[in-house]
This record gives sequence, structure tokens and C-alpha cells, in this order.
Amino acid sequence: MAIKFGRPIEIRDASRREAATSAPALDLTIRPRRNRKSDWARRMVRENVLTTDDLIWPLFVTGGHNTRAPVASMPGVDRLSVDQIVRDAERAMKLNIPCLALFPYTDPTLRDEQGSEAVNPENLVCQSVRAIKKEFPDIGILCDVALDPFTSHGHDGLLEDGKILNDETVAVLVRQALVQAEAGCDIIAPSDMMDGRVGAIREGLDRSGFQDVQIMAYAAKYASAFYGPFRDAIGSAKTLTGDKRTYQMDSCNSDEALREVELDIAEGADMVMVKPGMPYLDVLRRVKDTFAMPTFAYQVSGEYAMIAGAAQNGWIDGERAMMESLVGFKRAGADGVLTYFAPKAAEKIRQQS
Ligand code: PBG
Repeated sequence: MAIKFGRPIEIRDASRREAATSAPALDLTIRPRRNRKSDWARRMVRENVLTTDDLIWPLFVTGGHNTRAPVASMPGVDRLSVDQIVRDAERAMKLNIPCLALFPYTDPTLRDEQGSEAVNPENLVCQSVRAIKKEFPDIGILCDVALDPFTSHGHDGLLEDGKILNDETVAVLVRQALVQAEAGCDIIAPSDMMDGRVGAIREGLDRSGFQDVQIMAYAAKYASAFYGPFRDAIGSAKTLTGDKRTYQMDSCNSDEALREVELDIAEGADMVMVKPGMPYLDVLRRVKDTFAMPTFAYQVSGEYAMIAGAAQNGWIDGERAMMESLVGFKRAGADGVLTYFAPKAAEKIRQQS
């Protein structure tokens, strides 16, 4: 019975019926399926492989002691007190994850218009860096540079009459980068999208003797709906006034991403990033092909939430979706991925090998 548009069609003529249902006489020399015939054969021709070296694990730090407070919109992700961050750093070491990324949940009483807490050498991020480095000096630590976890208005920069000030913000970001470098941070990652910040931070670091501190620029960072759960985690979702479209990129553009990346490289970025991840794999591929720089993708909170939430509901196989999404970044040209799945993926990789 031949099927057309889902409706069965009766073929009355017996010889036609025979012709429609028997295998066509294909004379195939080339059969791509041969290379997929078994697990060992598939492994032999596999083009991209995810390893633990590809993973950067973002962690949320909060005040208190012995605290692991779940983030409701990110199933499986907690805000951790400094002592618990150190425990996760230990887990990362054991799993061979090379690098952690730190983000603070700042107490609302410490947030102000200027984001002053960002430049406090005793803030949660700096405390975490020192605590981790004391026990595990051999793990890499990346610190985000932007003001949004610290400002009462939730923006990444200084706000005046409803406008984000560029150059004044950059001056504060340089100070923020310096306190983080002083605490022992290895990679400064400006995520604010102000113009000229990479060059200013590079100069500030070099002048203060931090020549070896790397910069991973959030070079092509888009104004995205996928940051929602992250803003819950750092507590800026409710306070954010307006949107970030005057500094983060328009999701309709990709040539512009190349110009942004080019500028950041010219200003001294050692590594570049495209963010978010999955909706921007085309941008990732263009960036990698154009500049051949160490290039990273950020699988952001909303991407994590979609997979983890659907898995929790039994709608998809969470482990397989996680691994498929991560190798997709490699295929698109990423040298590594910032992902909240890092420890789970590392455990899965370990099981497989
Ligand atoms: C702060 C920053 C954001 C993220 C990383 N750094 C949020 C934002 O720009 O609003 C998002 C990460 C995520 O969603 O996982 N500038």
C-alpha cells in the first residue's frame, strides 16, 4: 500500500502494486551507511570529540557558609557559599575540568547605582578566587567583568538619564579587572560590551604587572532572551530596568560580530567568545574561520534550562541532548564551551572512555 500525505491509497492493478512495494533495483557502489554499521566503525570515522579539556564550568557564589541554594530556573544548579565553591573546584579537579568561571549573587543591600561592590577586593568573587587558589592552585579561574551583579538597576554599565555611559563604565571595569587579577584570577572575561574595554583592561593589567593574565573577550555577545535564568541566579532579573540593546548586539546580525571580534583581537584579546551558543552556531563558525583564534561558545542559562527542564519532565533524554548540544559547538569550530553541564558532561566522558 503506497502512502501519500498520510492517506492510504488503494492500488487496484496488481502489477503496479507489485512495482510500488518491491525494492527498487538500485545499483549502489557508494553506500555511506557502511561507515555507520557498528559502534567501532562509527568511532573510527568520528570527526569531532568532546573531551573534558573543552569544558569551562560557570559557578554562582553567594554569601553565608555551607550553603547550596538551588536556582529554580536552572534545575541542578546551585548558588554556593565560598566554602562550597571550593568543594566544587575539587570536583572539577577530579574530573579534569581545566577552568571555572565565577559569578556572584550580591546581597541587595550591597548593590548601588555605581556597582561599587564590583571593585571591592573583599567581594564574593575575589574571596572565592583566593579560597580556590589556596587549595587548588592548578585550576584555571575565569572572572566575568561587568557591573550587572552589583548595580541596583541591573545594567552592565553606569546609567545616567536612562543611558549607559561607555567611557566612564570602562574606567570602572578596569578597576574591577585589577581587583580580580590581584585576587589571583587567571582569565579576565569582559562581558559588558562597552567599546574599547578590552584595550583599556589590557593596558591596566600590564601597567600593574599582570602581563600573564589572559583576556577572554565576550566579543560577540547578543541581547538575548536566553539569559533569563542567569539573571534569576545573580538576582538581577527583578531589578533590571529596560533592556540591554544599546550595548549587546542585535540578534539579526552576523557581519557585525566579525567587526566586534576583530576589534577585541586588535585591542589584545587572547581568546574570543560567542554568546549565546546554540542559536549562534553560524556566528561561531564564521568567527573561527575568519580569525583562527582560540574561540569559545557560551551555552547560556536559558539553553541549559531548556534541556534540563525538558529532561526533568521526561520530554527528552537529557544526557543525550546534553552531549549532542556540546559536540555541536565543537563541530561549529569552538575550542571550548562554557556550560553549566560541565561536571555532568565530564562524568559522562569519563564513563565512555
Ligand atoms: C553579565 C553576564 C550575563 C551572562 C554572563 N555575563 C547576563 C547578561 O548579559 O545579562 C549570561 C550568562 C547566562 O545566561 O548563562 N554581563
